[in-house]
Amino acid sequence: MRNPIILCCFLWLCIIFIEVSGQCLEEQRSLLIQLKKELSVDYSTKSKLESWSLTTDCCSWDGVACKHQTGHVIRLDLSSSSINGEFNSSSSLFSLRYLQQLNLANNSFYPSPLPMGLQQLLSLTHLNVSGSSFVGQVPLEISFLTRLVSLDLSNHFGYPMMLESPDLKGLIRNLTDLRELYLDGIQISLTGSEWSKVLSLALPNLSVLSMSGCNLSGPIHPSLSQLKFLTHLNLARNNLISIVPDFLANFSYLISLQLCSCNLYGRFPENIFLIPTLRILEICTNPQLTGSLPKFPPGTTLEVIRLSNMDFSGKLPDSISNIAFLRNLQIDDCSFIGSITSSFQNLTELVYLDLSWNNFSGLIPSLASSKKITGLILSNNGFTGTIPSSYGNDLKNLEILNLRNNLLQGMIPSSLFTIPSIKLIALSGNRFSGQLQEFQNASSSFLREIDLSQNELQGPIPNSIFKIRSLNHLSLSSNHFNGTIGVGMFDDFKHLAGLDLSDNNLSFNVSGSNSKTLPYISRLRLGSCNIFEFPNFLRNQIHLFHLDLSNNRIGGALPNWGSRGWMLVAKQIEPLEI
Ligand SMILES: *[C@@H]1O[C@H](CO)[C@@H](O)[C@H](O)[C@H]1NC(C)=O
Ligand SMILES: *[C@@H]1O[C@H](CO)[C@@H](O)[C@H](O)[C@H]1NC(C)=O
Ligand SMILES: *[C@@H]1O[C@H](CO)[C@@H](O)[C@H](O)[C@H]1NC(C)=O
Ligand SMILES: *[C@@H]1O[C@H](CO)[C@@H](O)[C@H](O)[C@H]1NC(C)=O
Ligand SMILES: *[C@@H]1O[C@H](CO)[C@@H](O)[C@H](O)[C@H]1NC(C)=O
Ligand SMILES: *[C@@H]1O[C@H](CO)[C@@H](O)[C@H](O)[C@H]1NC(C)=O
Ligand SMILES: *[C@@H]1O[C@H](CO)[C@@H](O)[C@H](O)[C@H]1NC(C)=O
Ligand SMILES: *[C@@H]1O[C@H](CO)[C@@H](O)[C@H](O)[C@H]1NC(C)=O
Ligand SMILES: *[C@@H]1O[C@H](CO)[C@@H](O)[C@H](O)[C@H]1NC(C)=O
Ligand SMILES: *[C@@H]1O[C@H](CO)[C@@H](O)[C@H](O)[C@H]1NC(C)=O
Ligand SMILES: *[C@@H]1O[C@H](CO)[C@@H](O)[C@H](O)[C@H]1NC(C)=O
Ligand SMILES: *[C@@H]1O[C@H](CO)[C@@H](O)[C@H](O)[C@H]1NC(C)=O
Repeated sequence: MRNPIILCCFLWLCIIFIEVSGQCLEEQRSLLIQLKKELSVDYSTKSKLESWSLTTDCCSWDGVACKHQTGHVIRLDLSSSSINGEFNSSSSLFSLRYLQQLNLANNSFYPSPLPMGLQQLLSLTHLNVSGSSFVGQVPLEISFLTRLVSLDLSNHFGYPMMLESPDLKGLIRNLTDLRELYLDGIQISLTGSEWSKVLSLALPNLSVLSMSGCNLSGPIHPSLSQLKFLTHLNLARNNLISIVPDFLANFSYLISLQLCSCNLYGRFPENIFLIPTLRILEICTNPQLTGSLPKFPPGTTLEVIRLSNMDFSGKLPDSISNIAFLRNLQIDDCSFIGSITSSFQNLTELVYLDLSWNNFSGLIPSLASSKKITGLILSNNGFTGTIPSSYGNDLKNLEILNLRNNLLQGMIPSSLFTIPSIKLIALSGNRFSGQLQEFQNASSSFLREIDLSQNELQGPIPNSIFKIRSLNHLSLSSNHFNGTIGVGMFDDFKHLAGLDLSDNNLSFNVSGSNSKTLPYISRLRLGSCNIFEFPNFLRNQIHLFHLDLSNNRIGGALPNWGSRGWMLVAKQIEPLEI
């Protein structure tokens, strides 16, 4: 029974292959070769144009697809091809009349405007110039491409592009086949809710509308409710000054809704969470928007919930366990309360969890079955109890662990320091106590930052810590660590920029330092470290800007270090506490 299936699959692949390859027409080939000559390409990085050579069928070149019956080039994808420089307005590109799909995304055509020549490509159904650094007004000529189904002019980080004349209305009036419209980052000069009326009138069947950072104003107008086939709606980073209308919950095809930083207020309609198709919900940074989480029914399809920095409150519902594919839950900087229910145990797909800056209490979740998690941020709450053993033992993909400023206690398991991909361990401002145990394999870790300050840790600092060569920041201040630290123990720390050992019961022995000691240190705090002489290695520091040597026993005058005098060094250090 297996053979027919394999044959089918094989035939299907064959059909696809024949459809997009085929004999290259000489006339089409020479246009492409001419185009390659016109374009300024940085061949030191990867470019699709590398494969364009006369010895091969042009229909097989990277980014080129032909119609097999005719050999006409119908698809050209030159995205991410390291093309730079101005676009020749009489380019041979515009003679490729049969093109249906053109993608020039992610190149740099600065400072060219979008070329008017595009109007000659009347067969275009898909045009993508996102992130390609065109500048200025979008030309009226784009509106002549009446077969367009998908238009992506988005300009996320580029130079200013605008829609003034023609305005949005002029651009889309005749593009009645459009289903996907991406205008992110383009300055759209329409007053009030005009943009919404224009869109719903001209493009009632739109499926994707992405207009983040377009300088749109508001409020969100009822006319938007006519775009009921929307699957993706992104209006983030516009000053809409609006409530969130109830009708959004009636968009029964909606897959993603992005409304971060829109100056929204009022109460967020809970029913939006319950749209059966919704997978991505991002409404962060609308500090005046209130709301709470609903009871999630079984089969909820949400994968991403971002509600950071809003006025959401209440408890996390037990029914959160029904969001079986939840990957990303960011509800930091809200006013949530209560404890984290054991229902978190069922969130096996979780990759990123940020509950920081709320008023959660009770035990922190063990997340033993969330083995994919990379970021776990529970800081600034009222969590109590100890660190679950699952963190060091089961969460093998963890990169960021931030439990700062809670009421956690008990020992810090040394297994945390050997999580294979861990980069940041921040446990400061809790009540952790006892001694830190030695651990292995520290020298091969990715650890960049350890912050254990403001706890009740005691005993010696384990030698294993001094073997973590990758460390940039180490803070152990305000604990009860004791013993003597020699400056030579930092010989392995070639990248350390921040070190804080203040306010322990340590003795820091500075003798024996040399010109290679802590070469990149910029923030050094050694307050109350029983230091007797002025640290000689400071003489060589060129990155230092923050130094604290307060409450030590340094006698005599500050050293005079010749032409690179100490005071010269000190001038650029602030604050300086000795
Ligand atoms: C943009 O192109 C560069 C190569 O020129 C590539 O490294 C990068 O991943 C591309 N970015 C996107 C978002 O496609
Ligand atoms: C543009 O291309 C045409 C034809 O290939 C050429 O004659 C002309 O010099 C080019 N212009 C610029 C500014 O490169
Ligand atoms: C346009 O091309 C970029 C880069 O390849 C891609 O990320 C983006 O999804 C494309 N836009 C559309 C609408 O397909
Ligand atoms: C739109 O199309 C109509 C006729 O199909 C034409 O008269 C008009 O000039 C076009 N408008 C624009 C802005 O292209
Ligand atoms: C929208 O789609 C419907 C069919 O689904 C079609 O009858 C109607 O003409 C379309 N409207 C526009 C403006 O394309
Ligand atoms: C944004 O729109 C306002 C009017 O709503 C206008 O005054 C301002 O210049 C626009 N900003 C940009 C960058 O176009
Ligand atoms: C949502 O759709 C239902 C049923 O079609 C309708 O009764 C209700 O008025 C709609 N709500 C809004 C806010 O448009
Ligand atoms: C977790 O999932 C299992 C089976 O998938 C189910 O039996 C159990 O009730 C769920 N637990 C919670 C707390 O939702
Ligand atoms: C957080 O909890 C504390 C103590 O339970 C309470 O005083 C404070 O008002 C709460 N804050 C918020 C934002 O609910
Ligand atoms: C240390 O690394 C070795 C080899 O890479 C490995 O066999 C051993 O299990 C590791 N030990 C710990 C405690 O991770
Ligand atoms: C350090 O502290 C531990 C436990 O608090 C104690 O047992 C030990 O004697 C102390 N060592 C020194 C050198 O003070
Ligand atoms: C420092 O250690 C001494 C002796 O071990 C002890 O008496 C003292 O309480 C410790 N001080 C602090 C702040 O832990």
